[in-house]
Amino acid sequence: MACNVVVLISGSGSNLQALIDSIAHDGNPARIAAVISNRADAYGLVRAQQAGITREVLDHKQFADREAFDAALVEAIDRHQPDLVVLAGFMRILTPAFVTHYSGRLLNIHPSLLPKHKGLHTHQRALEAGDSEHGCSVHFVTEELDGGPLVVQAVLPVLADDTPDSLAQRVHQAEHQIYPLAVRWFAEGRLRLGPQGCLLDGQALPAQGWQIRP
Ligand code: GAR
Repeated sequence: MACNVVVLISGSGSNLQALIDSIAHDGNPARIAAVISNRADAYGLVRAQQAGITREVLDHKQFADREAFDAALVEAIDRHQPDLVVLAGFMRILTPAFVTHYSGRLLNIHPSLLPKHKGLHTHQRALEAGDSEHGCSVHFVTEELDGGPLVVQAVLPVLADDTPDSLAQRVHQAEHQIYPLAVRWFAEGRLRLGPQGCLLDGQALPAQGWQIRP
């Protein structure tokens, strides 16, 4: 049975593209029902159009406050009857009401090895901290910003001559591997959020999630 996915974006949408490409493959039950952007100029909207996917813009600046925007966003999303909502570079802080509404069916990708480097400028901060490893994480979204249970991480070595840009490039490529993987697990019914954390095939995942070293 198909798993209806709504993808939220704010920018380039390269993770959206990775999802689109992965869904075209052998029996993946995920189906992107719609792409919603809070910015009209997000390039991800072009990617959605090229893939023949319904797309919508909901500009947060048209709403009085965060609560009003999130309420309208819930309405827009729910029109597509999603089984899963995927944040793919959606650069908005979400209200507790939004997060609660999609509890257990809301995934995010973040460019660091959470719980390290929550928030912005993660590549710069990994270098400044002298980290020997850096990477990216897919997690279920809870009320704590970048703090929900971890599903999968890609772990990369930090090289002696790395700059924030070179790290960003490698981390981005790794994102394109782990996000389709997590979405497919969910769509296949293998991944669930239990009361104690993530379950894959009924087994508890470790606290840092499933780790790959691409
Ligand atoms: C990705 O690197 C994603 O991890 C990051 O935004 C980028 C979006 O790229 N998300 C966050 O920082 C969320 N806190 P994309 O538009 O090319 O997919």
